[in-house]
Amino acid sequence: MASGDQIKALINAYKNNDDSRFKTVALQIAASEARAGHTVLAREIKEIIEKISSNNKIIRMKNENQLLQCIVSEHRAQELVVSEEIRTRIERILTEYRQREKLRSFGVKNRCKILVEGVPGTGKTLTASILATELNIPLYTVQMDKLITKFMGETSVKLRQIFETIADSRAVFLFDEFDAIGADRSLDNEVGEMRRVLNSFLQFLENDNSDSIIIAATNNRKMLDQALFRRFDDVLHYDLPDDAQIQQLFNLKLGTFYTRRAITKEVREMAFGLSHAEITKVCEDCIKSIILEEEKLTSQLIVKCIKERRDAYVSKEA
Ligand SMILES: Nc1ncnc2c1ncn2[C@@H]1O[C@H](COP(=O)(O)OP(=O)(O)OP(=O)(O)O)[C@@H](O)[C@H]1O
Ligand SMILES: [Mg+2]
Repeated sequence: MASGDQIKALINAYKNNDDSRFKTVALQIAASEARAGHTVLAREIKEIIEKISSNNKIIRMKNENQLLQCIVSEHRAQELVVSEEIRTRIERILTEYRQREKLRSFGVKNRCKILVEGVPGTGKTLTASILATELNIPLYTVQMDKLITKFMGETSVKLRQIFETIADSRAVFLFDEFDAIGADRSLDNEVGEMRRVLNSFLQFLENDNSDSIIIAATNNRKMLDQALFRRFDDVLHYDLPDDAQIQQLFNLKLGTFYTRRAITKEVREMAFGLSHAEITKVCEDCIKSIILEEEKLTSQLIVKCIKERRDAYVSKEA
């Protein structure tokens, strides 16, 4: 067992941001465990420490920072149904990140500032989550509602705080619903304060040289002007699923209930125009029916669930 002093030393090292002290104390604990004959535990502690060292930094949860929400992300790349082009781009982001030191040694930076634009429910937020899981780093979502205040000066101060966190905690940072700051310039007030906030965001983005990944997600195509594109390393455009993606979605989301026979041409045509998120919901509806009403998966059941979804939207819009 680690002694009381060792535990206190460990906590103090964490509190003081002293990574090397943290590592030393942890290794001391491993050594005393080894002396006590707890060799498995000692080896496990060493392995954990080695992993931390290869990441270079202990990643801290900044719970005190109300602007950032840390999300435990578990989504994997296989869960994402997108075009080949988008998949290739995502893989390129992952590869460049994993090889960032190598790139840096040649004076180039991995692509890490990503703009994701597209129709609601097509996987923009999911993509951020997947990048975090695949790279084994935390995902922080920037709370846009807390960021934008009536007093734009305050907003800029908060933005600065966020970029400070980006610089010292290696993670994926998602500015979801980014349009809240970047949006429609016509919403701007007479003195152009919103534009100033956007400009300061772009300035911070340009100056960022961190090991984090910054993602701005929006479903507002209007905001995408040249000035904005230029500041990002990559831009991903997300669209509604095509026929092949619809088939793939049913396969993935129906899981063990999936049968190829049930996904007829009629089903795929009915589903055409729905987003990935909506098709996911249809699949959930089908699964619930199958479980609770002991139905079998048939194309009729899927068509019924699609109709119900569509009707719900129509009555909502009316
Ligand atoms: N491309 C996709 N592949 C697989 N599942 C998806 C995809 N897009 C959406 N989904 C499903 O729908 C859910 C919601 O999607 P997500 O929140 O990523 O959409 P979004 O594009 O961020 O939408 P919004 O613009 O409304 O924020 C996901 O958690 C996932 O279950
Ligand atoms: Mg989203």
